[in-house]
Order: sequence, then structure tokens, then C-alpha cells
Amino acid sequence: EKLPVQILENQQEGAVLIAGLIADLIKEKQANNEMAVLGLATGSSPIKIYRELVRMHKEEGLSFQNVITFNLDEYYPMDPASNKSYVHFMHENLFNHIDIKPENVNIPDGTVAIDQVAEFCAAYEEKILAAGGIDIQILGIGRSGHIGFNEPGSTANSTTRLVKLDGITIRDAIKDFGSEEAVPHRAITMGIETILSARKIILAGWGKSKSAILKAMIEGPVSSDVPASFLQLHNDVSVYVDEPAVSEF
Ligand code: GLP
Repeated sequence: EKLPVQILENQQEGAVLIAGLIADLIKEKQANNEMAVLGLATGSSPIKIYRELVRMHKEEGLSFQNVITFNLDEYYPMDPASNKSYVHFMHENLFNHIDIKPENVNIPDGTVAIDQVAEFCAAYEEKILAAGGIDIQILGIGRSGHIGFNEPGSTANSTTRLVKLDGITIRDAIKDFGSEEAVPHRAITMGIETILSARKIILAGWGKSKSAILKAMIEGPVSSDVPASFLQLHNDVSVYVDEPAVSEF
């Protein structure tokens, strides 16, 4: 294995473990009067992690006042007020339930005019740098091999940019959008280089449908064909999975 894998009893056990790591970072930074910078993901995989963080806020008083977040991606074009937007997803699942300062929440803007996308993306990169870089990046993995929306063909030196979604990704998104025609065919995503710049990376993959692509990510060659395989180039990646997710290893 080229990446360390931890097999957990179930998703909830993984969520508690990962949320615990995030909480430890936040508290350590609080003790030093510093900001914790989190890279966050959408999709079903991190939902229970966010639920656990909300629980820690409500029941244990974990504060997010010293937290800055950068989300990986957003569909393009996308109205943030739409219930399909990642802005909506993040507020529903996390931000509405914790005490994070709204000005510390960063999510790629799906409404930027097409001729201003490049400028927006460069500014997003700058903002991550100005915050001191990402301390912990949370990732899921798409069945196309994407992390964020870095689809096959993405290179190791890619940064935040507008991309076209892979056919597999569009098909998998039909469950959220109702029909293939309704799925946006583009997105703004952090790049592979952006993700690899994080100091610590945590990838969660649950269920049998992720098994083949997780195997390719963990055991296969580093290749643009499986963008998640670029994680093999990073020195602090932890992969958390359940039994079904390793059933095809
Ligand atoms: C989405 C997101 C990815 C996510 C992936 C997997 O397209 N852009 O960041 O990792 O799909 O989603 P899920 O966790 O629901 O399987």
C-alpha cells in the first residue's frame, strides 16, 4: 500500500475519529491565539463528520470563532441560493449550526461572470495563502477518481480553475439534480497542487461503490488518469474507510 489506510467498523466511528482530529487542531490553535484553517468537502462522505462537529459545538462548547474554511469546489454556473448549491449544502450541514464568523467562510462563487473566472480563481488561491495555508484538508473521492472536481486529465500542478465534469460524475449527480440535463457540466475547483499544499489530508471513502477507485488511488501508479493517486506524493495523508470500501482490494 502506498497510502496508509484505516479500516473502521462503520462511518460513524470514522466520523467521530476525524471530527476529533479537527477539534484537536482547533483547540491547539485557540490555545496559541491562532486561526485554524480547514479545507472542506461536500458530498455524502463528510456529512457525519460535520454532524459530529455540530454535536461537539452544542454539547461540549467547541467554538469555531478561530476557524477559517475553504471549500474545495462549487458547480458552475450555480446560484448560491439554490438548494443544489454547495453553499447551501455547507450551511445546512455545518455553518448554520456552529459559531463560525461568516467572513471566515470561503466557497468558490458559482455566479462569477465567465470572463472573470480566472481572476476569481487566482484570488481564491491568494486568500488561502494569506490565511497561512490549509492545516487540515477533508476529502471524499468521486468514482471518476476525482478529488474536489479534479477529473481525469488533471495535472499535479493544477490550481483553482474552471473544469468540465467527467461523464461518471454527471451520472452520479443525477440523484441530486433529478435529470442529466439539470446537472451543471462545469465547476470551479481547487487544483491538485492546492490540495497537496495542505499540511494534513484526510480522505474518507465509504461503501462498496468506492472500492475499485480507492484501490486504484492507493495501490495504482501516480497518474492523471486517477487524480486522487496524486495524494501518494503527499507525506501526511490518512485514508479512512469501512469494510465494504475495501471489499474489492
Ligand atoms: C462530489 C464532490 C467531491 C466528492 C465526491 C464524492 O462530486 N465534488 O468533492 O468527494 O462528489 O461524493 P460522495 O461523498 O457523495 O460519494
